[in-house]
Amino acid sequence: MEEMRSGVSRVAFIGSECYPFVKTGGLGDVMYALPRALAREGADIRVLLPLYSVIPQKYKDQMVWKGSFMMDLTQDGRSFFVGIMELTMNGVTYDFIENREFFDWGNPYTGLWEDIPKYCYFSKAALAALNYLEWVPDIVHCHDWQASLVPVYLRTRFALTPVGAARSILTIHNLRFQGICSIDHLKYWSGLQDDLFNYSVFLINGAEANMFKGGLAYADRVTTVSETYAREIQTDAFGEGLNAHLSYHREKLVGIVNGIDVEQWDSRTDALLPAPYGKEDVLARKPENKLALQRRLGLQEDPGRLVLGLISRLTDQKGLDLVNAIFEQMLDERTQVVVLGTGDPRYESAFRYFENAHRGQVCACIMYDESLSHQIYAGADALLVPSLFEPCGLTQLIAMRYGTVPIVRETGGLKDTVAPYQEETGEGNGFTFGDYRADLLLNAVRQARSVFFDHRDRWNGLVLRDMERDVSWNHSAQLYQNLYAELKG
Ligand code: ADP
Ligand code: GLC
Repeated sequence: MEEMRSGVSRVAFIGSECYPFVKTGGLGDVMYALPRALAREGADIRVLLPLYSVIPQKYKDQMVWKGSFMMDLTQDGRSFFVGIMELTMNGVTYDFIENREFFDWGNPYTGLWEDIPKYCYFSKAALAALNYLEWVPDIVHCHDWQASLVPVYLRTRFALTPVGAARSILTIHNLRFQGICSIDHLKYWSGLQDDLFNYSVFLINGAEANMFKGGLAYADRVTTVSETYAREIQTDAFGEGLNAHLSYHREKLVGIVNGIDVEQWDSRTDALLPAPYGKEDVLARKPENKLALQRRLGLQEDPGRLVLGLISRLTDQKGLDLVNAIFEQMLDERTQVVVLGTGDPRYESAFRYFENAHRGQVCACIMYDESLSHQIYAGADALLVPSLFEPCGLTQLIAMRYGTVPIVRETGGLKDTVAPYQEETGEGNGFTFGDYRADLLLNAVRQARSVFFDHRDRWNGLVLRDMERDVSWNHSAQLYQNLYAELKG
C-alpha cells in the first residue's frame, strides 16, 4: 500500500468496453474491476471509453460535459469532433469520448470495416482528451486491439505533447482479434506515416496491416491475462500468426492472471439470488437456488439432480463442438444442463435442438442476461468451460466463488486457476482434462457425476474449498502496481 502511495499513481485505462456501461465479455469485467482495485489502494485512475449509444440512459444522465474540440485524423487531414463526458463512480473517473458518427450504432461492435476507423479515431481521441483535460498519466494502460494504436500514437504524433511523457502497457485479452485490414484502409484512417507500414510494425503481408501487431511493437510493456497464455501465444498453436512477433518482444511480455470483483460477485449479498448464501450455509441454500432456477427455466424441479451450467459467448473458442459431441451422453435421468449464451448461429441452433429434444432436462437460454447469469452461477452444481483456448476466463472464477465446481480444459488461465481434483486425496478445485477431445470432456463430466452422486462428502469439500479460494484482484492488482512502478522508474 505504502509503495502505491509514494509511487506511481496516475493511470489511464483505455479500452472498448467496461461494465456496467457496455460489456460483451470478460474485457468489460476487467475494465471495471481492475481500476476499482487499484483505486482502492490509492491510485488515481481514469478510464477512457467510447460514448456508445447503447450505454444505458441512466448512466448518460449522470455524465457531465467536460468540453470538446476538433481533431485531425485521416491521411487526407479530415477533422472530427471530440466531445468529453465524465462520470465518477466508486473512486474511478470515467471519461467518455463522444462522436455520433462513430459510436451511434453497433452493440458496440459492427464489423471490422467500420470498427477499424472507429477505433483509430478512439485511440487518438483518448490521448487528445488527456491533453485537453490536462491530466497527464504516468501510464497509459491499453486493452486489446481496439486500443492498440495508442502506444503508436503516443510515440509518434503525441511524442512532443504533454501525454507523450507517459509510458504504455498493452494488455492482450484475446489474441484472436487483431484489427486486420488492407494497408490502405489503416493508412487512411490512422493518418500514421508511411514508414510505420513495415514488417516490424503494422504489415503482415504485402496487402494487409495489423493494428495489434503495431501496438505490441510500440508498447513499453505487453501483458496478457495468465502466465500460461503468455507462454502459449509464443507458439504456433496459439499465436494467431503473431507468435514470432511476440517471441521477438518476449522481454517485455508478462502474464498476470485476472481476478474478479468480489463485491460485484458476492453470493452473500447478491440481490439477484433467490437465497443468498455464504460458506457456512452453501450446502443448505444452494438447493434452494437450484430449485428456483429449475422453476424459472421450466426444468423438472428436483434439487437432487446434478445441474451443469454453461455461460459463454457461443464461439469456437469456447469448446462448444466438444459439448455438442457428447451432449446426449452427458445427460442422464439425474442430470440437467442449462446453457446461457449468444453467438454463432451454428451453436445457438444446436443448443435449441437439444432443449427441444429433452424438454424439462435441458434449457437453452439464447440471450445475454446478466441477472440470469447470477442465478445460474448460484443454482448450478458445476460449470462447463472446455475451451479450445482461454486467455484467462472469468466464468470459472465466478463459479468457484459461488461454490459451483468448474469442469475445465487445462489451457490458458483455466489451467492456472483450477487445480485438478485428486482421486486419492479429494483435493483440488474442479475437474479438468488436457487434450482437446470430446471423450476426455465426457470423462471429466462422468468423474464429476460420480463424485456428486457417490461421494457427496468429497463434493462438498470441493464446494467449500472453491468458496475459500482467493479469486479477488488483490494479488494481481499488486503485480500491475509493481509493473507501473518499474516502468515509471
Ligand atoms: P470472454 O471474455 O472470452 O467472453 P470470460 O470468461 O473472460 O470470457 O468472461 C465472460 C463474461 O461474460 C463473464 O462475466 C460471464 O458471466 C459473462 N457472460 C458471457 N455470456 C453471457 C450471457 N449470455 N449472459 C450474461 N453474461 C454472460
Ligand atoms: C478475453 C478472453 C478471456 C479473458 C477476458 C478478460 O475475452 O477470452 O479468457 O478472461 O478477455 O481478460
